[in-house]
Amino acid sequence: ILKIMKDRKGILLAGGSGTRLMPLTSSVNKHLLPIYDKPMIFYSLSILMLAGINEILIITRKEDLSLFNDLLGDGSRFGINLSYEVQDNPNGIAEAFLIGEKFIGKSDVCLMLGDNIFYGGQLSEKLHSAMLRKKGASIFAYEVMDPSRFGVVSFDKNNKIDSIEEKPSQPKSNYAITGLYFYDNNVIDYAKEIRPSKRGELEITSINEIYLSEESLFVEIMGRGFTWLDTGTFDSLVEASNFISIMQRQQGFNIACLEEISFNNGWISKDNLIELVSNKDSSYHNYIRNIILKK
Ligand code: G1P
Repeated sequence: ILKIMKDRKGILLAGGSGTRLMPLTSSVNKHLLPIYDKPMIFYSLSILMLAGINEILIITRKEDLSLFNDLLGDGSRFGINLSYEVQDNPNGIAEAFLIGEKFIGKSDVCLMLGDNIFYGGQLSEKLHSAMLRKKGASIFAYEVMDPSRFGVVSFDKNNKIDSIEEKPSQPKSNYAITGLYFYDNNVIDYAKEIRPSKRGELEITSINEIYLSEESLFVEIMGRGFTWLDTGTFDSLVEASNFISIMQRQQGFNIACLEEISFNNGWISKDNLIELVSNKDSSYHNYIRNIILKK
């Protein structure tokens, strides 16, 4: 398994101008806004790390690079290897594979959108089964009330994928496609093949359509016990913060504590943790102190 994990790189997309959240986003990149006790990007980064990916490219706007660098640096604090690239214009999600072509090299890749939050049991199992699939693409679908805001996948009577559509006005199902995608190395060639949509973007849905036509698109359903949170509106931002706060206080486990995940993956040591928390006294750091004491 370790060998396979080494062959898959991660891309975290954290660009965009966040127009729907202005003025919150007038001077702060959306992915750095707080979700309860940590910046939004911690949640998506934690998913890549839970999948076992430790080589990660963050794509963002040029003017925001230094902010991400201040927050995360080269990743060594979290036992991972972070690099950065710039997306100059909002040309769409699939452009990530063109910007990241060199970084991906001959590896497989996992793309995570920096504004998606996942929480739920069996998450690691789902991630690992996608990690182990060497050919094709794996995407994750989640039932929602308002599917037309998302990419939508529908199934036929035999549960085979029937269609995938980007923000359809008349969705054929309630299954939204979430912002977590696993691809084999062909994705780079496919990203070069596709053309911009009506809204002028290279759509991730166009990539998925190619995999579907090659019969190598796998959809995993995230069931009703699972939580996928959207952070695209003012209300959903507050709700996501409340959700994280409630879950953390109920169980005492911190969601998306990057140092904890790294420690559990064996990427940083107890000594590293002790050094990281010295002279820091937020509840985030106190939680790390408690993990050290417990293990
Ligand atoms: C994007 C994708 C869409 C997907 C969504 C998940 O939408 O285009 O298919 O369902 O992310 O967050 P956007 O955020 O660009 O509106």
